[in-house]
Order: sequence, then structure tokens, then C-alpha cells
Amino acid sequence: MRVLVTGGAGFLGSHLCDALLAEGHSVVCADNLLTGRMANLEHLLDEARFEFVEQDVCRAFDPGKIDYVFHFASPASPADYLKHGIETLQVGSAGTLNCLELARQHHARFLLASTSECYGDPLEHPQRESYWGHVNPVGPRSVYDEAKRFSEAVTMAYHRYHQVDTRIVRIFNTYGPRMQINDGRVIPNFLWQALRGENLTVYGDGSQTRSFCYVSDEVEGILRLARSAEHAPVNVGNPTEFTILECARKVIATTGSASQIKFEALPQDDPKQRCPDISKAQQLLGWEPKVDLESGLRLSLEYFKKAVAKDAAAAR
Ligand SMILES: NC(=O)c1ccc[n+]([C@@H]2O[C@H](COP(=O)([O-])OP(=O)(O)OC[C@H]3O[C@@H](n4cnc5c(N)ncnc54)[C@H](O)[C@@H]3O)[C@@H](O)[C@H]2O)c1
Repeated sequence: MRVLVTGGAGFLGSHLCDALLAEGHSVVCADNLLTGRMANLEHLLDEARFEFVEQDVCRAFDPGKIDYVFHFASPASPADYLKHGIETLQVGSAGTLNCLELARQHHARFLLASTSECYGDPLEHPQRESYWGHVNPVGPRSVYDEAKRFSEAVTMAYHRYHQVDTRIVRIFNTYGPRMQINDGRVIPNFLWQALRGENLTVYGDGSQTRSFCYVSDEVEGILRLARSAEHAPVNVGNPTEFTILECARKVIATTGSASQIKFEALPQDDPKQRCPDISKAQQLLGWEPKVDLESGLRLSLEYFKKAVAKDAAAAR
């Protein structure tokens, strides 16, 4: 297949490009580098089956004949979407519409990277796909949550009205190499602080829970969904829950850091609990995560050490 990956210069998109190329496909990556980096794609630039196009997907474009669209373009970390609120709403609306139009015109299949943020600060726990969510439509995080909820709605509309063959994956907290080191998400934040010998910042009392999925597990789940015939949303994430405090302690243990934990006020709309119910993915895709948090942290360590060293060298 010739596959379009939007947002392919980002963390998840670049791993997806690797996996699609490894399966023998040709990949066109469209990215405007708003939050992504060419460094994530450096290793692919000599690959004959890989093309990079610097492109804002909110503007009309045509990558030529394509068989599948993986729409991953969107700021994803809270730091990024709070900084680029309007761009986040644009890529979730105009960007998703453009990508769906491409899929329709080329008779291509389409997969939307959606998010557990669609559930907001959930009242149901763990979250099943049937839960409609508890989102503040005017809070600071709404630029992301509502953009993704619109993306899901318009994806279902293209399926219903134009018979586009669509999929929606609700991605839960994923981590691993190539994340931005200082993007405010829990794991990179803790690794960054621990490797620099700084104290780890825990918001609130640290009893809020999160579940963390290692990137190779996430990509495997996404590819299985892409091959399936399911049009309704499917959760793909790791259901093993940790409190933020437990996670901080695991990062300190993995890095061997002497850092301590410091507590700060909880940001507005910070979800108290977030954990996927993955029974649908298990039954439908035969998928479940294999990499536990300790192993995933160890697999990520080398990348984060290099990134911290590079940052320190640049600051000198
Ligand atoms: N990483 C996670 O834990 C997670 C969780 C839930 C959902 N997701 C979703 O997965 C996707 C990828 O997330 P990520 O963690 O890799 O984030 P990322 O910021 O590393 O990657 C996003 C990419 O999209 C690009 N982009 C943004 N706006 C664009 C535009 N208008 N045109 C073209 N490219 C644009 C950025 O430059 C970047 O390369 C996002 O859609 C995100 O919402 C990620």
C-alpha cells in the first residue's frame, strides 16, 4: 500500500512510519513540524519507500494516489495544546475534514488518532468505549478534548454519509523514545527531572491515577485496528493503573537518581482517574499490551539520557 501518515514527524507518527515501512508499505509523511521534529525521521530519509512533505494539513493538499490515511497530526501534550490552542482546534476540525476528503477522493481507508481525553474527567471507571465522557467544553483543555470529539464526529459522518472506510483509535497515555523531553507529560517530565537530579513535581497529593502504554504496544494495537473492519472507537492503552506518586518512585528507582518528590497545586480540569477498559481491543483485535512500566522505562532510558545530555551541552 501507499500510506499517508499525517503528523509523522511526531512521537507516535514516526514510530508508526517505521512499523508501516517494516511491513513493506510505502509511506508519505505530511507534517508542518509544529510540535514534531525532523530528528525523529532522520533514519528514514535515505529510504526509497519514504517521502516527507512539509505540509499544514489544514490546507488542501494532494499527496497522489494513496490507499490508507493515518491521521495523527495534532499537538498532543498539554503543554503543546495549551500553547497552540487555536492550531489544535484547526487541525482537529479543518485538518481532519481535509484528510477525510483525501480518503474519500482516493477511495482510501482512514484511521483517526483520537484520545482518552474524549472521556474528559470521567465519572465511569475504567472507561469503556460506550461511555460518552465528562468534558468541560469551555475549560482550558477543551481546545484539545473538543477538537478530538469533533474529529470523531466528522469521521463517523464521512463513514455514514460518504461510506468512507474509517477507524477510530482512542489512544491512552503512551510513552517511549522520541517524546519531547520537556513536554509536561508525566513520564518524560519525571525522567527529565530525575536525570537532571531535580526534584520530581507531583501535582496534588499524587493519588490521581494514570495508566501508561509503551509505544511498541500502542503501535501494534493501532495496526491491528487498521486491519480490522471496526468503525466505532476502540480503546488502545495499558490498563495497569499507577498513582502518580508510584510512578514517580518507579522513575527514581529506574534512573538511580537521588531526586526527591515535591508537591504542587493540581491544574484545572486535571482528570483524577484515567484507565482504559481494553476488553473490546482484546476480543476484536486479539491485542493486549506486553511491556510493563519498569521494562518500558528501561527501554526509554537511553533516549532520555542522550536528550538530557544534548540539552545540557546546548546550554553551555
Ligand atoms: N502520545 C500520547 O500519549 C497520545 C495520547 C492520545 C492521543 N494521541 C494522539 O496521537 C497523535 C500523535 O501524538 P504524539 O504524542 O505523537 O504528538 P506529537 O506532538 O509528537 O506529534 C504530533 C505531530 O503532528 C504535527 N502537526 C500538528 N499540527 C499539524 C498540522 N496542522 N499539519 C501537519 N502536521 C501537524 C506536529 O508537528 C507533530 O509532528 C495526536 O493526534 C494525538 O492527539 C497521543
